[in-house]
Amino acid sequence: MPTQPMPTRHTPEIELPPDAATVDDHRNPRRHRREAEEPAPELGLLVQPEARHCLDKLILHPEVKTDIQSALRALEKRADLERIWDLSSIQPMQGRCILNFYGPPGTGKTRAALGIAHRLGKPLYQVDYSAVISKYLGDTAKHIKAAFQSARELGAILFFDEADSLLSRRAATGESCSTSINQNRNTLMQELDRFDGVVIVTTNLFENYDPALLRRIQSHIHFRLPNASMRRELFALHLPNAERVTADFAVLAELSRGLSGGDILTLCLNAIHAGSTDPDPAQWRVTQEILEKQIAKVKKAKAEHSGEKGRRKRRIGFCS
Ligand SMILES: Nc1ncnc2c1ncn2[C@@H]1O[C@H](COP(=O)(O)OP(=O)(O)O)[C@@H](O)[C@H]1O
Ligand SMILES: [Mg+2]
Repeated sequence: MPTQPMPTRHTPEIELPPDAATVDDHRNPRRHRREAEEPAPELGLLVQPEARHCLDKLILHPEVKTDIQSALRALEKRADLERIWDLSSIQPMQGRCILNFYGPPGTGKTRAALGIAHRLGKPLYQVDYSAVISKYLGDTAKHIKAAFQSARELGAILFFDEADSLLSRRAATGESCSTSINQNRNTLMQELDRFDGVVIVTTNLFENYDPALLRRIQSHIHFRLPNASMRRELFALHLPNAERVTADFAVLAELSRGLSGGDILTLCLNAIHAGSTDPDPAQWRVTQEILEKQIAKVKKAKAEHSGEKGRRKRRIGFCS
């Protein structure tokens, strides 16, 4: 007997604005068109650590080194710790380890994550928030799950760099309705609980983290600005060809008070370029004068930036 085609319910083509929060509603024909047309987005970047990322190349405060070493020890000795102490009976997710690196910009948090990946012989799966956070209702939660799944399949460390935009209690999840914000938050916490691996989160503003995330973090490691002797080492590290450098690192270390490792890297690179303008490369030199000029430049830019930030805060305070 010939089969009758099922009568299809006519769905009118409602013209919704493409960025409407409800655009992902299953009744919306645009959703199906979008899903069919668009490939699944790349939700993260896989970063393979290299020899230059080795932890030994980081100039860190002794307590930060100790904290990193004990986190690594806990990961590397996991099997022995489990065998001797039966850890899973007291902490069911003992395979999962969340490390939080916090502190001012340029203090080596991202580099330390790469260093840990290098030491553990695993790649880093760096979550791309612009791809994970979607304006389409339901997609953010779906993307969070998919990002965890990718990290799992790749055997990677899950890396939330500068994580405030996804992990703070006022996280911008892209969706306006509070139910979906809660749903995204719950999905993230559930995925963290299911993840049986290493997660590293970094932030400059750790006080904004969601308390539910805080409870799950094993180790908080505070990256502070370098002291004078560390700044001295940072100059030596970032000006590798000592024969072509005529500078007093002790003086530079004093002059660069308040600068981060990232600032010192930038100013050393600029000094190298400034000292490499002679047509004859044999004459290229980095001098004390060039370096002092670059230190003054970075300090001026930082002072102007913090002055501008202060003015902006005062303007906002005045308006509200
Ligand atoms: N403590 C440090 N030791 C060695 N190099 C550093 C250190 N801090 C910063 N740097 C240099 O500055 C660059 C930027 O640092 P980064 O790890 O991105 O800082 P953060 O993530 O804390 O903002 C690094 O790639 C490294 O070259
Ligand atoms: Mg960083």
